[in-house]
Amino acid sequence: MAIEVKDHLFSLSTNNSLYQMKIDEYGVLNHTWYGAKTSMDMSYIEDYPEISFSANLWDTERSRLYSLNDRLLEYPGGGISDFRLPALSVSVRDGSCALDLRYHSYEVTDNKYELSGLPASFEGKGKVQTLKITMKDTVYDIYVDLLYGVFEEENIITRAVIIRNLTFFPLRIHKVMSACLDLPDNEYEVIHFHGRHAMERMMERTSVDHGAFSIGSRRGQSSHQHNPGLILARKNTTEVSGDAYGMLLVYSGSFLAEVEKDQLDQLRAAIGLGTEHFEWTVLPGEKFTAPEAILSFTEAGLGQLSRQYHEFIREHVIRSEFVHKKRPILINNWEATYFDFDGKKLLEIAETAHDLGIDLFVLDDGWFGNRHDDDSSLGDWMVNEEKLRMPLKQLVDRIHAMDMQFGIWIEPEMISEKSNLHHEHPEWVLRSPNRYPARSRYQLVLDMANPEVIDHLENVFAHLIEENGIDYIKWDMNRSISDFYSPSLSPVQQGEMLHRYMLGVYDLADRLTSRFPDVLFEGCAGGGGRFDAGMLHYFPQYWCSDDTDAHNRCFIQYGTSFFYPISATGSHVSAVPNHQSGRVTSLRTRAVVAMAGTFGYELDLSALDEKEKEEVIRQIADYRRKQELICEGDYYRLTDPNTQNVCAWSFVSKDKRKVLVQAVVFEHRPNAKKPHVVLQGLEENGWYRRKADGKLFSGNALMKAGIFLPNELGTDMGYQIEFERIEKKESITMN
Ligand code: GLA
Repeated sequence: MAIEVKDHLFSLSTNNSLYQMKIDEYGVLNHTWYGAKTSMDMSYIEDYPEISFSANLWDTERSRLYSLNDRLLEYPGGGISDFRLPALSVSVRDGSCALDLRYHSYEVTDNKYELSGLPASFEGKGKVQTLKITMKDTVYDIYVDLLYGVFEEENIITRAVIIRNLTFFPLRIHKVMSACLDLPDNEYEVIHFHGRHAMERMMERTSVDHGAFSIGSRRGQSSHQHNPGLILARKNTTEVSGDAYGMLLVYSGSFLAEVEKDQLDQLRAAIGLGTEHFEWTVLPGEKFTAPEAILSFTEAGLGQLSRQYHEFIREHVIRSEFVHKKRPILINNWEATYFDFDGKKLLEIAETAHDLGIDLFVLDDGWFGNRHDDDSSLGDWMVNEEKLRMPLKQLVDRIHAMDMQFGIWIEPEMISEKSNLHHEHPEWVLRSPNRYPARSRYQLVLDMANPEVIDHLENVFAHLIEENGIDYIKWDMNRSISDFYSPSLSPVQQGEMLHRYMLGVYDLADRLTSRFPDVLFEGCAGGGGRFDAGMLHYFPQYWCSDDTDAHNRCFIQYGTSFFYPISATGSHVSAVPNHQSGRVTSLRTRAVVAMAGTFGYELDLSALDEKEKEEVIRQIADYRRKQELICEGDYYRLTDPNTQNVCAWSFVSKDKRKVLVQAVVFEHRPNAKKPHVVLQGLEENGWYRRKADGKLFSGNALMKAGIFLPNELGTDMGYQIEFERIEKKESITMN
């Protein structure tokens, strides 16, 4: 059994981890353990001497040994003598903010809990159990349900929190974390992913010092600047060994993740909704559901932690039917034409793409309203026939006639001042009363907290898809939210606006993806500004970054890979000099990097010369051959591009027979040894044949000594090396 409850002890076991909680004599729920498997009640580790200035609970009589401020707690409420960061802060009618949660009841079920209106993981194939522990305040009828989904095989524990108000007055929530994790020591480092537009998810590993460290977003989107996840790793944890914990939020709006090292050198880590501009009123009889957090632990290093997340996201988070389907290889016209196109130009690109073997043509921004630049027409989702010089349906039909699929770009959440929609519905724009809203890329944001707006958008986009036979949608979101006021909400509800905005986005995504299960949706937010598990629930792939430079992408895709699967990572070959960096990399290198994702092209293919076209034909055939291994195989990071001259990664099939190493050597170093890569995840005692020259290597040699890459002249040289495990090894001599 994954969940065992005995003598007030809750033990949640996965194959390689144990999560334990214990109710003590005062009804407080202690977090006694999360980590490697042990075979006992771990509550003995909570052994505290008297600590001065740690206040003692009233009902411990006059004992000076018991303090909430010292103990490892499962879900600390604020205002009652735990001076560390609270997981939940509320206030009640009389203005008091104390919340004293004690154990009330529990329930175990053989399925996965659901969270209404929010993206969350699901049962899928395999076994999962849910534990619900209900806590209740000692004075008021405030109930907190702590939910745990235990995925045994996957080594995953999901968490969520529901706050129920059974009092007769409104309850105000000021802060709610989805998961809080108290650990008994502090020998950890925090790994997190920061960045900016066109340079998302830069990995940073930093020490945990006294005080609190936090990352988060106050932008109403999970953001380019910080991804909603963090990893705690032992100082000696590497890719291949050592303890690592992951905490990933299934949410796409403002968030907060905190790590605090306390006076006893213990650690508290928590992740949940952002607190800035957040206050939620739960009316009597109502409840509030916080988003889900996905926790995972391994003793086998960061690579294993990533593979646990990849597998889990593919099998239990992405709900699209496309998740295991071979994704179409696409051509997107954005970097080929930007706003400057007509139907003829698009058909020219599509025809060349078809000749080269591409499956899907994607028409990006600029096809609707009066849009010739980014200053108008968002909201007017009618085709600009004057610009296309043909109806959209005609363009789609002509592309379908080439036996290609047709995809289109939309940006549902936005509105331009220069649009009919703005003229008709100025009240649908997020803006504070009596103030002008801030423009970003000239555009304003629609009030997604308003159900009328969601209904309108559903109709508009359902019509677009149905009328034109659209096969793929790129759903973009090109600015952060800055005007925190929804005209559709009352003044007291304004603190709910950012979360209600996200609920509206999820509602629309849910409606459209459910209504059109055969349409492939790709998410985008100015590249990877909302690349998170929340959006991946609806969209099986996400445009990773607006930076298509192969060199920069090595770092972006490296950071992205810590939590997110390769099959969800949108990656394209674009033109050189690269439009974002000015860098020139070979077509070969650009393809090597773009193949570590859902592959496509984003350049004017008709401008390629014949040799380049032949190379593209070969690349497409090559990707098709490897697609299953890349999208369904196990992913290994083989180097750290931040400290090494090579960025290398590999894919290994589940049966360890097929191996693909992809690598970029950043610079040629004269008179130096050849660049070198050590493989992982192979059959130790197996023998592998290198495809290029037939040479045999033992699995253990490849994983201990590795292989050399060429030391060619040039910068950013991309390589692919394939190995196949062979059956018989008797004939092999050690020479
Ligand atoms: C964003 C996207 C790009 C492109 C443009 C269009 O920046 O990330 O891929 O679609 O918008 O305006």
